[in-house]
Amino acid sequence: MTQMDGLDVVDCERCEELCESRSRIVNGVGPADADLLFVGEAPGANEDEQGEPFVGRSGDVLDETLRDVGLDRADVRITNCVRCRPPDNRDPHADELANCREYLETEIDRVDPEVVVTLGKVPAQHLLDRDVAVTGEAGTVHDVTVAGTPRPVLVCVHPAATLYDPSQKETFADTLAKAADFTDDESGQRRIGDF
Ligand code: URA
Repeated sequence: MTQMDGLDVVDCERCEELCESRSRIVNGVGPADADLLFVGEAPGANEDEQGEPFVGRSGDVLDETLRDVGLDRADVRITNCVRCRPPDNRDPHADELANCREYLETEIDRVDPEVVVTLGKVPAQHLLDRDVAVTGEAGTVHDVTVAGTPRPVLVCVHPAATLYDPSQKETFADTLAKAADFTDDESGQRRIGDF
């Protein structure tokens, strides 16, 4: 049975616990040919309710900081490693990450972004397949083979980190500015400052 329609997972029951905890599957949003693909961990309560990634406080930080570096949320694609809300917002388990991996790989493959930006520790470790000290490695770009294709992956702190630790704001903004350098003006995905 096909579980994806384009970039969307339309039906999935691979994770028993997540099927119980979710209200819905939260698919990625944004242009299907975006230059920038942001990958978070998993939906939280707001995302589960609204059916869209990063719409709570973390989403506000992401949107504001994108604007600060001349980008608009509408021009980037945003998704998660795991598409269903884990109970009590716990980290996704290894088997859940593995179950959802095919969907993430398909999305990365089909969107074919200029850069994949990992938001926080879970997506960084998932894609780099090793321990990542996100604060120390924020802003670094790694060549990662995803579904057979080499991809630049830019490590970024989670936007929520800036809420707990204001000193992370600069790190977050600097990393998004670096991500903006990957945008292709020819594609029409112009930086806001260009207008
Ligand atoms: N945190 C994430 O990692 N993903 C979301 O969609 C929201 C918050």
